[in-house]
Amino acid sequence: MTVHFIGAGPGAPDLLTLRGRDLIAASPVCLYAGSLVPEGVLAHCPAGARKVNTASLSLAQIMAEMAAAHGRGQDVARLHSGDLSVWSAMGEQLRGLREAGIPYTVTPGVPSFAAAAATLGAELTLPGLAQSVVLTRTSGRASAMPAAESLANFAATGAVLAIHLSIHVLPRVVAELGPHYGMDCPVAVVWRASWPDERVVRAKLATIEAAVGDSMERTALILVGHTLGAEDFAKSRLYAEDYDRRYRPVGTAPRFPEEREGPAA
Ligand SMILES: C[S@@+](CC[C@H](N)C(=O)[O-])C[C@H]1O[C@@H](n2cnc3c(N)ncnc32)[C@H](O)[C@@H]1O
Repeated sequence: MTVHFIGAGPGAPDLLTLRGRDLIAASPVCLYAGSLVPEGVLAHCPAGARKVNTASLSLAQIMAEMAAAHGRGQDVARLHSGDLSVWSAMGEQLRGLREAGIPYTVTPGVPSFAAAAATLGAELTLPGLAQSVVLTRTSGRASAMPAAESLANFAATGAVLAIHLSIHVLPRVVAELGPHYGMDCPVAVVWRASWPDERVVRAKLATIEAAVGDSMERTALILVGHTLGAEDFAKSRLYAEDYDRRYRPVGTAPRFPEEREGPAA
């Protein structure tokens, strides 16, 4: 018996991995995290599966469900939205399973920041503009932010920020970021990326509050940075005609000459 933690993706059911789909289909118990896991993903559960929405359960009750399945010898598919590596509360469940001696696996999912970037048709890192993306949030009732992880500190680097769980404090986000990025800096808010009712608002830091109004709550991602919508950026060297690299040696003395002869038989 194993508990399979599976990233269910950002919303669209076909953004689930094949491995995730197969594990769900093979598990007679499915524990899923409320409204952010779509019906289309749950449709992969086998007939007669025990499906439990954990939105209203405590950690102890969730662990009890897993322990009961362990007692019955039944595999569990444990679904969280997006990917499991950020804001999934997986860490505390894994610790509980280690303490209980219950085996588990972890299968990644498409994170919401990647789905939002895809909706925008955007590469978030562009040469000369930004080469880092910070996945962050503002403090909430359930989780305080460590003091050094302020928006202002991240903004001081000029990295692109993907700000989760924060659409309700958009005015504060704008106030903290404006001095660092400038009020002309592009912002995009993507609400329910990849869901059928997905919405996008693009604006500048100066105008984003008015543009969003009160039309979006909860499941929205705020992306801030100078790469958003940029056209004026350098090309990457990787595909430059004169760039000598392992898989495309260039010139009379390439750094990786053996690659010209192809792989050894
Ligand atoms: C509890 S966190 C879960 C994050 C998730 N584990 C991930 O990989 O993105 C929930 C927050 O993620 C963001 N989020 C999740 N799904 C989203 C989606 N489809 N579109 C936009 N933002 C989303 C929102 O900021 C939301 O408040």
